[in-house]
Amino acid sequence: MAKINAFSLIAIYGLMAFTVIFVSATPQRRFSGVDDLTGQSSQNTGSRRKAINPMTEACLACICQASTNCNLTTRCISNGKYCGPFLISRPYWLDAGQLTLIGDRAERAGAFEDCANDPICSAQTVRTYMQRFQTDCNRDGAIDCDDMGRIHLMGPTDCVNPRVPTTPFFKRFRSCYDKVLQLSSA
Ligand SMILES: *[C@@H]1O[C@H](CO)[C@@H](O)[C@H](O)[C@H]1NC(C)=O
Repeated sequence: MAKINAFSLIAIYGLMAFTVIFVSATPQRRFSGVDDLTGQSSQNTGSRRKAINPMTEACLACICQASTNCNLTTRCISNGKYCGPFLISRPYWLDAGQLTLIGDRAERAGAFEDCANDPICSAQTVRTYMQRFQTDCNRDGAIDCDDMGRIHLMGPTDCVNPRVPTTPFFKRFRSCYDKVLQLSSA
């Protein structure tokens, strides 16, 4: 049985804070261009295949944690290449459907940065990206959080690269998610 130590408590409080910020505070339809992200897509109709929505909030929290320690005041780094708490790039944002803050237009210069730097818009961008590009990157027969971490780092094509688990990002991500798994089975 897993002991609740100080580290687990930090993980629990971190997740709770995350939930307050990203889940409770997430208004539906705050952004233009958001698809139905509940996972009840056409995959459900009549087939035995279950709707896939592997992007749990704990998984999202670990992607945020591994990206920037989930520092919500993170702005753009590396000459503007990556922005916000999830370090989203412009191509990633484009592929996710160019979500914008309400009243904004995707064509406006700065629309990408303003979305990526916003906690809610960036989280929704990651959810949308994962929904669109779900891939069994690790070839284990399931599309789950482990795959989401790989996709966030490398995109849906290069996420199969066997070197992904050796990257600092993925190590931080996996360590976070392993704690989540430990807590939920304790
Ligand atoms: C978050 O990031 C900002 C900007 O990079 C930095 O100034 C601040 O110290 C960070 N906060 C924490 C709690 O790490």
